[in-house]
Amino acid sequence: MNTIAIDGPAASGKSTVGSKVANALGYLFFDTGVMYRAVTWTALKHKVNISDEGAVSAIAKDIPIDVQPPSTDDGRSSDVVVEGEDITWACRKPEVDANVSAVASYAGVRAALSEQQRRIGLRGKVVMVGRDIGTVVIPEANLKVYLDASAEERAKRRYDEIIARGEDADYAEILTKVKERDHVDSTRALSPLRPADDAVIIDSDNLDINQVIEKILALNTR
Ligand code: DC
Repeated sequence: MNTIAIDGPAASGKSTVGSKVANALGYLFFDTGVMYRAVTWTALKHKVNISDEGAVSAIAKDIPIDVQPPSTDDGRSSDVVVEGEDITWACRKPEVDANVSAVASYAGVRAALSEQQRRIGLRGKVVMVGRDIGTVVIPEANLKVYLDASAEERAKRRYDEIIARGEDADYAEILTKVKERDHVDSTRALSPLRPADDAVIIDSDNLDINQVIEKILALNTR
């Protein structure tokens, strides 16, 4: 099947690492987090109350989310298109960050998105990145990696990313939000963030991105 699952907390570097591993192997890269972000962005756009679980779940079921290989060389690892609109960067805005964990806790949302993700994962030759890929979406993945890093290191990386895009950022605020999202993601009742029993845990605090990629590529040939 040749499927690699990479799970881990917010801003642990999963997307950067995952897309480079996929490139090196000639596999498809699929960041499942963008689907939860796309549902959140669409709900906000249509002024749906985020605490209305039924209405938010209906969006996940009814609105097609298109995730395609990147069309522009602006640092994106894929294009995210909803209702004809490219929301690749819009779905990373703070308003989405603030609401996406609640959206990802809804059973109807998880069922609709996990089913689509599983279908793509089972085709093989794919690197899938998320929170529950090794535990729920593709438990039969050939290689499961849990990529971890301290909250401080992850907040610093997110801060650097925003500054590099020429936007304003406040490190202390980012750190608080990273910790809040960790808490919601790992304590939710459904598919909480945790390493699969057979996942290889990689702590990236003292590793640069290339060292993490090399580790994963070496594990994949075992
Ligand atoms: O990886 P990210 O920050 O883009 O993820 C956005 C949100 O989606 C995050 O709160 C966790 C959730 N998520 C999830 O519950 N399951 C996944 N497979 C991927 C993301």
